[in-house]
Amino acid sequence: MTTHYPIRKSGPFRVAPNLADHDKARAAFQWADIERELDWLPNGGLNIAHEAIDRHVLRGNGQKVAMRWEGKNGEREDVTFEQFRRETNKFADVLRSLGVAKGERVFTFMERLPEIYHAVFGTLKAGCIAGPLFSAFGPDPVRDRLDYSGATVLVTQPELRKKVEHILPALPNLKHVIVVNKNGRSKEPLAKGDLDYDALMAKANQSFVPLTTSRDDYSIMHFTSGTTGKPKGAAHRHNSVIQQYATGKWCLDLHPDDIYWCTADPGWVTGTSYGMIAPWTNGVTQVIYEGGFSARKWYEIIQRYKVTVWYTAPTAIRMLMKSGAALPKSHDLSSLRFIASVGEPLNPEAVMWGLEAFGMGIHDNWWQTETGAIMIANYASMDIRPGSMGRPIPGVEVGIIDGKGNEVPTGEEGDLAVKAGWPSMFRTYWNDEERYRSRFLGDWYITGDRARKDKDGYFWFIGRADDVINSSGHLIGPFEVESVLIEHPAVAEAGVIGKPDPIAMEVVKAFVSLKDGHEPTEQLRHELMRFARSKLAAATAPREIEFVKSLPKTRSGKIMRRLLKARELGLPEGDTSTLEDD
Ligand code: PRX
Repeated sequence: MTTHYPIRKSGPFRVAPNLADHDKARAAFQWADIERELDWLPNGGLNIAHEAIDRHVLRGNGQKVAMRWEGKNGEREDVTFEQFRRETNKFADVLRSLGVAKGERVFTFMERLPEIYHAVFGTLKAGCIAGPLFSAFGPDPVRDRLDYSGATVLVTQPELRKKVEHILPALPNLKHVIVVNKNGRSKEPLAKGDLDYDALMAKANQSFVPLTTSRDDYSIMHFTSGTTGKPKGAAHRHNSVIQQYATGKWCLDLHPDDIYWCTADPGWVTGTSYGMIAPWTNGVTQVIYEGGFSARKWYEIIQRYKVTVWYTAPTAIRMLMKSGAALPKSHDLSSLRFIASVGEPLNPEAVMWGLEAFGMGIHDNWWQTETGAIMIANYASMDIRPGSMGRPIPGVEVGIIDGKGNEVPTGEEGDLAVKAGWPSMFRTYWNDEERYRSRFLGDWYITGDRARKDKDGYFWFIGRADDVINSSGHLIGPFEVESVLIEHPAVAEAGVIGKPDPIAMEVVKAFVSLKDGHEPTEQLRHELMRFARSKLAAATAPREIEFVKSLPKTRSGKIMRRLLKARELGLPEGDTSTLEDD
């Protein structure tokens, strides 16, 4: 029977595209079909950790390897589903014994170590909300996110704890700092008041009975940037697992025997939805590599672990392209059978390069933090349309609308919008229901992207509707960067834009005006770059700083980033009638 998986590849090779069949299957599709494939809890509850881990053990697959970890120093560790169940039970029991109650926020600030996966799923078993933070963040983004969410527990590592130690005392809600000293890598003693992860886990009960959560209970919180204000915590529900599980099959073509590798960090939504939930609910073995990008190392990982399905990002593909097609050809990558990417536009050249380097095209798909799971995809069973994000998955309605919520004619540009109510839809921005509501127009959720749809129902990305910067697939709010720059004593004002870049799509460029008495020297430029990098993260800090006498502003005093960008690109400056009078 194929009705449940109408857009799933039937074998290792591409099948002929048949859009009419897809449409028929879409029309007949109901989420209830997928819901029936999950196990649910005995009283009708739903918990992501149960679906991703425990149910495989209950079905007799406990000895299957869930995680094949390779550390940055070459350490190796395999974790079976049974071990995974025990470690996550124990972490949930640790939280219970510390008095952490259901609904509290438990944040991780860690590299890709097995313990981060134990902590996140243990947090879900304890009925708490998991908040994974990107390990490359500097102290300011970490403080903002912990403060905003009122996190009570932070799980981290010695070197990362050191990076943020001065912000921790300023967080009144933070009660426990749990430190994972992986394989005794750090020789330094634990800071006063901190808890040792290994010691806590040694005493914990592996038979902990996970809390019963409902499909509407909060599960994971990820921060995402907007044009104004600090990043907001998009809160998801356990219900998201339904769509994450389904899209793992449909859009990543996961089958039980797959060896899957997702290169995204758990600090970003791809790293949880598709680096944790989708693969493990589908019961596949996942490779986790702690280290960062290196073309040679990445090909070695695919070769060594015989990766079959690979989910990565356009910037990474463009970086691989730069290192040439000879390198992949000098490795045995014959295990690979499906490659997908997300996070930024995947240019047609990159799709085609997949054919040259790996013998297969790269399947672009589209979604965002707020959607929780893939919404639009080039499916395994269809021909890829290079440069297009693909077609909507069954069970969601995507439209291109105008400012009044009406769909625009086929082929015209408009706002990319989704009919509210898909299973993995975020439920709120933490403590900011007003901003949450502002994202809807009638029953459309407005994504913030501009796009168009062609006559076959394929969607084509055009750009962001706002000033948010997308650098290597990471969304960066200009306000966050500007706020850091103006903390420097020499800076009067700062305006931040995304400057087009052939590899990262955009890089952060800052225009800075100085306070009286400061000179725009090379030395100051470098100092500002260092200053921003020490507080933000290398990826978020400005790559370029240009000194200007003053910044263009609206009459109400808002910096006109649009104008800065137009000037940078040498484009017409458009309507400047609201510019301040000089
Ligand atoms: O602008 C779109 C871009 O990334 C945004 C979502 O970013 P984030 O919430 O960080 O989630 C990233 C992981 C899903 C979108 O609003 N984006 C995402 N996928 C694509 C894309 N732009 C073009 N093509 C894509 N396939």
